[in-house]
Amino acid sequence: MATTRHPRGNPYSLHFWKSAGRPRYLLETIFLFCAIGVLFLAYRYFLGGEAEAFEQKMCGTSLQELCSMNPNLIEFCKVTDACVNVRQIKKDAEVAAKSEYPLVLVEVFYETLCPDSKDFIIDQIYPTLQKVGGITNFSLVPYGKAKQTKEKDEYVFTCQHGAQECKGNTIQTCAIHLLAKKGSNLAISLIHCMEVSHDPSSAGPACAKDVGVDFKPIEACASGKMGNELQHVMADRTERTKPKLDWVPWIVVNGVHTEEIQQQASSDLRSLVCSTYKGPKPPGCNE
Ligand SMILES: *[C@@H]1O[C@H](CO)[C@@H](O)[C@H](O)[C@H]1NC(C)=O
Repeated sequence: MATTRHPRGNPYSLHFWKSAGRPRYLLETIFLFCAIGVLFLAYRYFLGGEAEAFEQKMCGTSLQELCSMNPNLIEFCKVTDACVNVRQIKKDAEVAAKSEYPLVLVEVFYETLCPDSKDFIIDQIYPTLQKVGGITNFSLVPYGKAKQTKEKDEYVFTCQHGAQECKGNTIQTCAIHLLAKKGSNLAISLIHCMEVSHDPSSAGPACAKDVGVDFKPIEACASGKMGNELQHVMADRTERTKPKLDWVPWIVVNGVHTEEIQQQASSDLRSLVCSTYKGPKPPGCNE
């Protein structure tokens, strides 16, 4: 009775593979690895892709909406912790709206490609929004030290960091305008995502998907007359600041800009908002 089927030895023994001469079963081995590779890719493509599409379909909406849905879905989309924040801010906002005290108005004049502006959005605005967003009224003005001229019935902008910055400024201006009805937080989430990216002026579509908003209307606005007009409004607002804006980000709290406010906001915006707010402090002020 034969114990090995192969005439050149037992392929399951180490000795077989180490034996001198041309590696045996070379073609078979290569074929086997290729087959495994193809199967793996097919798995990733069909099953992985489908799972991703399913997750995008279920979870690809704004955090605010997602958090008001079924707890199982919240867990599936891995936003349990984020929703704790969102609910707290919503509660704070309801309390603040019923109180006699106005929200703290934080106006920020900035440029989309300016490193200091990026840092301020990432390190101050976004965390402040997440902790004490319920008592803060953010108003973002993406324009900064750009210049405007009027040619025929259109405004032409020149930006500190070039044409890409003008494009980014206009996209964010449109996002602020179009998302205002859904709450300013959504626009800030989108802007934050864009500023985290290495190329803010082209991160719009991916970021819109990330925060669960439709980018098409924003894109249409930014590439048309509406975006041009809205950017002009931002330009006028920027040119009217008192004192006159001479660097960015330029921070104005409750209508006032001083060097002290600028410094406090740059190092700890949340504390500044909390100390400025006259009403009862929300929990986010005590952390
Ligand atoms: C936020 O401030 C703007 C002025 O920039 C004001 O029109 C708006 O009513 C304020 N919103 C809230 C909720 O206080």
